[in-house]
Amino acid sequence: MIIAVDGPSGSGKSSTARGVATRLGLRYLDTGAMYRAVTWSALEHNLDLDDTEVVAERARAVELGISTDAQHAHFTADGIDVTEAIRDPRISASVSKIATNLDVRKELISRQRAIIDDAQPTGGIVVEGRDIATVVATDAELKVLLTADTDARLARRKAELAEGAVTAEQLRDQIVRRDADDATVSQFQVASDGAVTIDSTHLSLEEVIDVICRLAKEAEAAP
Ligand code: DC
Repeated sequence: MIIAVDGPSGSGKSSTARGVATRLGLRYLDTGAMYRAVTWSALEHNLDLDDTEVVAERARAVELGISTDAQHAHFTADGIDVTEAIRDPRISASVSKIATNLDVRKELISRQRAIIDDAQPTGGIVVEGRDIATVVATDAELKVLLTADTDARLARRKAELAEGAVTAEQLRDQIVRRDADDATVSQFQVASDGAVTIDSTHLSLEEVIDVICRLAKEAEAAP
């Protein structure tokens, strides 16, 4: 079984996808972490992120270790533990440039499909990202598009950040700018056949997980 969870930053998709995978005993793939790990590697090599060919070459060369354990996030790039480093604001500020590089996408999509295939004998996988239902795993049994209004996403992001680290205005700018950057990824959030949209603005994390687990059971039982 493949469950695709797509959505914008701050929609709660990471916590949701991890929660669903844990509850259903499935593997879990955070595709955003892969774009972040390539960004980390490109910066580590002092590459010009505007040089699309050189960056794509790095994406093809870098050895990524991507854990698919929902309860134990662990990522390596060329053998170095980058689990914490890829969440750095420096990476968040540059990752859209990497994610809009079509040759990087081609490389990472192919690696994502290999990870998804590997997970099938273990029962399946919950995959979270932006283009999972539309591009990476169009055959997913369940496709969820998770949304939340900007204020709700802002509040969640703020709660994640250290008190006083950034102002509310800076945060809003970041979220709105990230949306605009992400929207340049051609396949981003295009409504997909059979996708279920869940607006999480007024739902708790547990409620969203409940809905998706119920839909997954229905999808599994469907002929
Ligand atoms: O979900 P996130 O914030 O970790 O994603 C990091 C970046 O990667 C963000 O700019 C969106 C992009 N991304 C993408 O283009 N396609 C995906 N499948 C996952 C993430």
